Amino acid sequence: MDLIQEIIRNAQANKQRIVLPEGDEPRTLKAADQIIADGIADVILIGPARKIAEMTAEFGLKNISKARIIDPKNNPEKKKYAEMLYEIRKAKGMTMEQAEDLAENFMYLGILLVKAGEADGLVSGARSTTGDMLRPALQIIKTVPGVSCVSGAFIMFLPEGSKYGTDGKMVFADCAVTPMPDAKQLAEIAVCTADTAKNIAKIDPAVAILSFSTKGSAKHEVVDKVIEATRLAQEARPDLLLDGELQADAAIVPSVGSSKAPGSKVAGKANTLVFPCLEVGNIAYKLVQRLAGAEAVGPVLQGLAKPCNDLSRGCSVEDVYKLVAITCNQAIAQKK
Ligand code: ACO
Repeated sequence: MDLIQEIIRNAQANKQRIVLPEGDEPRTLKAADQIIADGIADVILIGPARKIAEMTAEFGLKNISKARIIDPKNNPEKKKYAEMLYEIRKAKGMTMEQAEDLAENFMYLGILLVKAGEADGLVSGARSTTGDMLRPALQIIKTVPGVSCVSGAFIMFLPEGSKYGTDGKMVFADCAVTPMPDAKQLAEIAVCTADTAKNIAKIDPAVAILSFSTKGSAKHEVVDKVIEATRLAQEARPDLLLDGELQADAAIVPSVGSSKAPGSKVAGKANTLVFPCLEVGNIAYKLVQRLAGAEAVGPVLQGLAKPCNDLSRGCSVEDVYKLVAITCNQAIAQKK
């Protein structure tokens, strides 16, 4: 079955509650209508209630009446969220007055709903930047126990007939969040990406931590970081098929893998690529998307205690719909 169809069916069978903080954004609102119609998730929309009502009428949307709508500027429960935020952030210097202001901010309110357990996940970004969502998510929801570093993975759907990946899919990370991870953070990124490959992309991960060196062919402190990250990840999760440091060709081309890294269980057949820093990961996924014609779905944010995902500002209604379904799948996987 097509992966996206599988993700949609899993979401329909285990309905989650998803908050959309940009409730008055046209593509988000149209997607919400379809998500409700298809039974993908119970939807919470944040935004000016009157504007949402006007847009619902203008677009002829039939299902928005089934969503919970919270108007952040006119919210009878504002005090509850402000107090919650104050408790979480007072040690970092936040005052009650600041918490009250932020409880009226659509993004903070959305994140607070997830933190409060009133929503299982969040999707935003049609109008806001990655940082706008990530900062409150990192401050309030924080990371899953045992993980200190949040990262972003892309599921890369390769062009038909590609000889790489598994079932035409690969997973790339970190392409979205942590600019310069240290060895421990890189190891965490590798482990989280393996879990995303298994739980969301539905492939058995063969993880390569990439470098410009293969098994000692070059010496540099950035190579040492990748070697150390590989050691830490292997130590933390001996169950995983994971190796490094590998060059990209050694990771994915069988003949190059066997000549440059003989004995490696991953070389030549990696389907999950972990990049040494964000610059490399972000550039690599965009080049593979443009030059190879791969479809890049994500970023799927990994390592957060509850799933929150970020859309590109150029997203379509369909992108919002798919990312909500993916977020539901992350929430379902986390509850297992
Ligand atoms: N993982 C976990 N926690 C983190 C991380 C991380 N990667 N980064 C920051 N934090 C925490 C900090 O510990 C801090 O917590 P605290 O306030 O409780 O102590 C909090 O988040 C805020 O940290 P700051 O350092 O103040 O946040 P910063 O301003 O550095 O923003 C951010 C963090 C938003 C992740 C930043 O690193 C960033 O902008 N990253 C790049 C995002 C981006 O532009 N990606 C490319 C575009 S996306 C695309 O193309 C698909």
